[in-house]
Amino acid sequence: RGLVAAVDLGGTKIYTALADQSGGVLAEVVVPTRPWEGAGAVIGRIVETVNQVLKQAGETGPLLALGIGSPGPLNAVTGVVYQAPNLGWHDVPLKDLLEKRLGIPVAVDNDANLAALGEYVYGAGRGEEEMVYITVSTGVGGGLILGGCLYHGAGYGAGEIGHMTIDPGGPRCSCGNYGCLEAMASGTAMARAARHLVESGGGRAILEAAGGDVAAITAREVARAAAAGDGEARQIIINAGRALGIGVANVINLLNPALVVLGGGAMQVGPLLWDAMEGEVSRRAFAPARRRVRLVPAELGGRSGLMGAVALALQKVRGNLPY
Ligand code: BGC
Ligand code: NA
Ligand code: ZN
Repeated sequence: RGLVAAVDLGGTKIYTALADQSGGVLAEVVVPTRPWEGAGAVIGRIVETVNQVLKQAGETGPLLALGIGSPGPLNAVTGVVYQAPNLGWHDVPLKDLLEKRLGIPVAVDNDANLAALGEYVYGAGRGEEEMVYITVSTGVGGGLILGGCLYHGAGYGAGEIGHMTIDPGGPRCSCGNYGCLEAMASGTAMARAARHLVESGGGRAILEAAGGDVAAITAREVARAAAAGDGEARQIIINAGRALGIGVANVINLLNPALVVLGGGAMQVGPLLWDAMEGEVSRRAFAPARRRVRLVPAELGGRSGLMGAVALALQKVRGNLPY
């Protein structure tokens, strides 16, 4: 029986699955990434999770291929991750290292690109040949399906929606620039805005939600305070949603997609984020493209990237990848 493994590698967790030839998932494992331990340790943990899913499914293999999504622009042919600030990686030969450790063919792509592929093949984007996927998580990422194919650009850097400038005078981004969408609308950005608020004497409800510990404030605590009606927390989410909406409007004007799918953990902060985003899109996207587009949440929830990695592994097995 032909089995493949799939990995969605994120700054916070490694999400691994075992799947069969029809994309049916047989087992899943999640472990923390702990990127501060270095690339070697992270890759060791990925290998462990692959063994774990096999064991969990009572399978001994053979594994035909592994598909993996990683943050950061990366070369899908060589499998080198150029720059993943949320992992602290620079020029990590992810494909080679994993092929050496696992002894099977490995196909890599950007995490958000694979989430786009996952939604296109198995989720909200089925049948939509012009679609954009945007993830709002630790970072903000994007994946472009154009003419029914994942679009990589000239140097595998396409779809880096998170590093689109939204506010030239905005906060510093993980990439070193200022005012990127990621610096204004990611889970990390919302948490940072909340911590700044607390440090300047406000944000009482958010601090309370974090048990009085500023360092423990994440987007989740902001969401909790907002759900309880706290005005400051609501404003942080609205600001993030507006930045996101400006980004989405720009993407709509550039590509005229039929569908924009939004996913990622930080989308869970509540309906305020979505409403603020939609408001900006209807204000800013040019009418002809705006009338045509649908904005929808990811159908596969937290599994878009994982299912895209399954789809990539299956493409690899079938010889449908040029690399
Ligand atoms: C990276 C993207 C990635 C996104 C989500 C961004 O910081 O540049 O490549 O898709 O985070 O992980
Ligand atoms: Na991308
Ligand atoms: Zn940036």
